[in-house]
Amino acid sequence: MNTNSFEAVPLKNLDEWEEDLLRRYPDPDSIATSKTTDEFRNYDSPERDTVKEFYRLNHQYQTYDFVMKKREEFLSFSKKEMPVWEAFNFLNELVDDSDPDTDLDQFQHLLQTSEAIRRDGHPEWMVLVGLMHDMGKVLCLFGEPQWAVVGDTFPVGCAYSDKIVYPEFFKHNPDYDNGKYNSKYGVYKEGCGLRNVHMSWGHDEYVYQMMKNYLPESGLYMLRYHSFYSWHREGAYGHLLDDHDREMLKWVKLFNPYDLYSKNPEPPDWNKLRPYYEDLAAKYLPATLKF
Ligand SMILES: [Fe+2]
Ligand SMILES: [Fe+2]
Repeated sequence: MNTNSFEAVPLKNLDEWEEDLLRRYPDPDSIATSKTTDEFRNYDSPERDTVKEFYRLNHQYQTYDFVMKKREEFLSFSKKEMPVWEAFNFLNELVDDSDPDTDLDQFQHLLQTSEAIRRDGHPEWMVLVGLMHDMGKVLCLFGEPQWAVVGDTFPVGCAYSDKIVYPEFFKHNPDYDNGKYNSKYGVYKEGCGLRNVHMSWGHDEYVYQMMKNYLPESGLYMLRYHSFYSWHREGAYGHLLDDHDREMLKWVKLFNPYDLYSKNPEPPDWNKLRPYYEDLAAKYLPATLKF
């Protein structure tokens, strides 16, 4: 099944979702309270409509079975093998020519994120997390629809939190009426830990699985849950967490502002930065990455 099997592609480019995150979370301490959520819903603009349509599709089609199917399809990493730096060129094919407002390509966002982390003196593995965190967006280049690559992620197989953006769209998801999946715990047990919870499918889980042998646990949490806003920003799903998740939450929160607030129209000077990043990648990653 490819993009065209489902409905129209609502976002002109993937960054529209991230620009919308900035409207929802304008500063590092902001939480989308019900008031701001209402204001946000009433915000009438063409950009809001495309994002809304995007979430309508996302919430409707991200079922438990869909996630299982995608895990099976992609987590054997048998699609493609590329040297690390070639993988960034591949990712950059995502630049959308039809949108004149796209100022920075995917690699620039990754580099700005990693540079902001480096400037603040965080450990080098975290700099690498910044550099790699959106590599999973290559899923789009394998023909996956936008709603299965980006957007806020959330647990599947149990009741949806009303802290997830546009919760009303879950009514169109077949799992919403399925007794196996629609109770508070669904297929999970109280306090089972996020490692036992299946998240909606997208670039977070994919890049986590790609990197899981190469980075420390705190970095892996940053990768795996960076789009799980209803958890790390809104505090939902406490009933599924274990002590380890509660301990790791601080790392996910530490990472999030670098992802959201490091965008700068001035692109970093790659030629100057290149030796540092080549050393960094060589230190942690194998020469080629599997997709
Ligand atoms: Fe991301
Ligand atoms: Fe990002």
